[in-house]
Amino acid sequence: MASDSRQILVTSALPYANNSIHIGHLVEYIQTDIWVRFQRQRGHRCTYVCASDAHGTPVMLRARELNVEPEALVDAIRAEHQRDFAGFGVAFDNYYTTHSPENEYFVQQIYSRLREGNYITQRSIRQAYDEQAKMFLPDRFVRGNCPRCGADDQYGDSCDVCGSTYSPGDLVNPRSVLSGAAPVERESEHYFFTLGAFEASLRDWIGSGVVDTGVAKKLDEWFQAGLQDWDISRDAPYFGFRIPDTEDKYFYVWLDAPVGYLASLKNLADETGQPGVEHFFAPDSPTEVYHFIGKDIAYFHTLFWPAVLEGAGFRKPTGVFVHGFLTVNGEKMSKSRGSFIPAATYLAHLNPEYLRYYYACKLGPGLDDLDLNLEDFVSRTNADLVGKFVNIASRCAGFIQRGFDGQLASELDDADLYAHFVAEGDSIATHYEQREYGKAMREIMALADRANQYIDEHKPWVLAKDPDQAARVQSVCTQGINLFRVLLAYLKPVLPVLTEKAEAFLAAGELDWGARVTPLLDHRVQTFEPLLQRVDEKAVTAMVEAVRESASAASANDDTPAEETISIDDFLQVDLRVATVVTAERVEGADKLLRLTLDVGGRERQVLSGIRAAYDPAALAGRQVIVVANLAPRKMRFGISEGMVLAAGDGDDIFLLAPDSGARSGMRVT
Ligand code: MSP
Ligand code: ZN
Repeated sequence: MASDSRQILVTSALPYANNSIHIGHLVEYIQTDIWVRFQRQRGHRCTYVCASDAHGTPVMLRARELNVEPEALVDAIRAEHQRDFAGFGVAFDNYYTTHSPENEYFVQQIYSRLREGNYITQRSIRQAYDEQAKMFLPDRFVRGNCPRCGADDQYGDSCDVCGSTYSPGDLVNPRSVLSGAAPVERESEHYFFTLGAFEASLRDWIGSGVVDTGVAKKLDEWFQAGLQDWDISRDAPYFGFRIPDTEDKYFYVWLDAPVGYLASLKNLADETGQPGVEHFFAPDSPTEVYHFIGKDIAYFHTLFWPAVLEGAGFRKPTGVFVHGFLTVNGEKMSKSRGSFIPAATYLAHLNPEYLRYYYACKLGPGLDDLDLNLEDFVSRTNADLVGKFVNIASRCAGFIQRGFDGQLASELDDADLYAHFVAEGDSIATHYEQREYGKAMREIMALADRANQYIDEHKPWVLAKDPDQAARVQSVCTQGINLFRVLLAYLKPVLPVLTEKAEAFLAAGELDWGARVTPLLDHRVQTFEPLLQRVDEKAVTAMVEAVRESASAASANDDTPAEETISIDDFLQVDLRVATVVTAERVEGADKLLRLTLDVGGRERQVLSGIRAAYDPAALAGRQVIVVANLAPRKMRFGISEGMVLAAGDGDDIFLLAPDSGARSGMRVT
């Protein structure tokens, strides 16, 4: 194997460090991990690196919101992501961060080489600026009416309703998402990477088959549209690396993010002595480099990134493998439908290997989206993994153990059938190599059917009743266990945990791809433990419920707009009224509460309100407020509260809402 052993570097996209991993992300990490495990099983040297994508405005703002340093946020999320990935058996060699000295080193090296090559230009651009938040606004932080169709509340770069794309300056009635203020336009000096200079060599590279046909088509469109200069700088405040020789300019997160692949590799090499960046990224490197990514980030990985690598004197990737997006039950993942499932929530309810297998069944090399249908998930996993595959072993193991003390026969009962199973390995391997996992799974399951058919035909449970047939029982079950072992070799990249248990049962070491050729004969297996439970439908329902519940709990105290709308009738069910504060006093023993007596159109009622930190009770008497008048009375520790007073707040500050002057107590608010 050593002579034709390949040296492969594999990456998955670096997850943003401001959100949890969900089952959509896992499509990618499971797809990659299966490929990596397959390569290793075949005897190749395959290094798999990843990292947290730490920089950028969303991480900076999320940290502010939580009142922590961005570094602390990144550390916490990175630890969470590592735990989730480990839970799904995704076995990175290194999971690093782009906010690291290694990354800064490479970013600066690349930038200075690009400058020397005259691939960096500078010019002043006009950009949306929020005067209250005192910062330039990324496109996604400006919302307003679509300039084309007029739809409300659309992002600054594209309209969800009519699909048109534009720049934030085109929005009608634009608003900053941060402060709500109308943004102004401001000039600022920016740095650009001259992508167009690489057009010819990018076309060559793509023509050499580094991407799947669907992606190549997309690229054709992009070439047609023309390659624009790429804006690689952002103004302070920004969480990122400062551009050398500037006061307040930072590298755009998408410049330093893919460089994180190099940083993670260097960090691994420095710690283990394994080959590093010089080895994998030299222009004439004999190694192979593959990036697994989702279709939303193809532009960055098939145009910007290879051009940046080339401009900086590094080799370009051998392949960029682009997958589609996950839908659940045929629809986009949604919190309220319970299908926006965080990795951790899945793990609390279900075995990760079910999902690894299900995704494997659904995955091909193309851009197509894939659907997780939860009913199909239950029935397919049970039918294939438990009903077909594991069943082969459990039907045979007992007889070998009870009747022969675990000893396998010295000959196969049907050597031809075994040879057929082994031979199929070539086409299964080709499928894995080409990321045709769905095809691989179908071939494996067809073989599993064949193995079960063999057992059905030879009926060891009937033979076992006749003492004269003992040798037959042993040889039939030896055949069955050996067929199971070949299939185990084929499913090993998909089912690492089950494989470990089954390897312990077989007691013949680690099963690599070549080992399947030689059957286990005259060999003693260990006690058979059940390898996999059936998927419990109730666990799936409980998981969906858990997601729904946490979604509704979150929206109750969330400051982001709800993803689903309510009807005007829903809104009118809330009886909002103008009220006048008659008295306000502190509540003994409750340091957050004030007891308010309100006059609502001539009726008095008592409301306990958590506004003590912000309001002096003496100053409240006589003021008008807005109250939810039809809220069911609630018994609290300090008395009954008959309603709720409306206030705006962000967890720190509190601001009571009040009607304009002239409103009368009891008036309805609509
Ligand atoms: N930080 C960037 C990647 C930088 S790579 C130098 C990013 N992060 S992400 O967290 O949003 O996404 C990580 C990967 O998960 C991306 O490849 C993305 O396409 C993939 N997916 C995110 N949601 C997905 C689905 N719903 N379905 C399938 N893949 C999805 O992008
Ligand atoms: Zn529109």
